[in-house]
Order: sequence, then structure tokens, then C-alpha cells
Amino acid sequence: MADKRAVYPGSFDPITNGHLDIIERSRRLFDEVVLGILENPEKVPVFPIAQRLDAVREAVAGMDNVSVDTFKGLLVDYLDHQNARVIIRGIRAVSDFEYEFQMAMMNRRLRSGIETVFLMPSETYFFLSSQLVHEVASLGGDVTGLVPPGVLGMLARKYPRGRSRRKR
Ligand code: PNS
Repeated sequence: MADKRAVYPGSFDPITNGHLDIIERSRRLFDEVVLGILENPEKVPVFPIAQRLDAVREAVAGMDNVSVDTFKGLLVDYLDHQNARVIIRGIRAVSDFEYEFQMAMMNRRLRSGIETVFLMPSETYFFLSSQLVHEVASLGGDVTGLVPPGVLGMLARKYPRGRSRRKR
């Protein structure tokens, strides 16, 4: 494969086991995978960038060809900065397709040499999203097995009421 380095961008708010599944697949295809966590001043994330960064770093510790970084601004500019030409995106259900297709086409328009590679996670994670994780955790549901252990702690601290409801 001509492209040795790929960028997997995302909000990772928080990282889930679905993301980790895509990371595992990516690192078998590419020599180097850079996880680019979006720092978007326009949007208030649930977890601040420093916490998301720590959680991603902890989750991929020991994956020797995976590095973690943050970026602001246009993704294609970040790819230039990383000297990469491949964007990795995970795709789950058909419902992801329209948004992902729009982004891939816009990125291609902005930088014709950049390709988006879509990977599918294991069916175990087909329903999983960061947004659902927040919803379930905030309402006291158990998300064990869906997020890395460090994120379980972050969620427990973020949603203490959720935890107490679960104990009832
Ligand atoms: O995990 P997400 O929130 O689905 O990731 C979305 C992300 C970070 C890939 C996307 O919002 C992005 O690339 N933002 C950077 C700004 C940009 O380049 N926008 C134009 C892309 S079409």
C-alpha cells in the first residue's frame, strides 16, 4: 500500500470500544495511524479536550504504531500537516452513510489527493455511539464492555446520579 500513514479523525467524546475496533483494523492496514481528536471552539463537547486526549492515550497505550494528537480547523489541512493522504472513518449502519458520504466528498473537493477509507466495526458495536453512551450512562444504565475502563471512570464522575440510580 502506497500510503503508510493514515489519520483517523473524530470527536472521541468519549472514545468507545467501537472506535477501538476501528483502530485495531486500521493499524493492521497502515504502518502508522494518527488519531486526530477534534478541538472545535464552536462546539461545547461533553468532555473537554484534555480529558478526551487522556482517555484516548490510555486506551491505545501499547499500540506501537498508533499515535494520538489534537487538531483544530480543517481536517484536510491537518492531513497536510501530518503528511498523510488517507482519512479513516468507521461506518456502521446505512444511517451513517449520508453524513460520511458528504464529508468524504467535501474533503475530496478540498484536496483531490486525499482518500477516505471506510471500515466497518464488528457487529458487536454496530449500534454503539458516543452519544448513546452518554445517554445510557446519564440515566444509570451500565455501559461496561462498551467503553474502555478509563472511560467508565470518567462517566461515573460525570454522572454520579446515574450511578446511584443504578444501585437502586
Ligand atoms: O467523531 P465525529 O464527531 O463524527 O468526527 C467528525 C470530524 C471530526 C471528522 C469532522 O467534524 C471534521 O473533520 N471536522 C473538522 C472540520 C472540517 O474539516 N470540516 C469539513 C469536513 S467535510
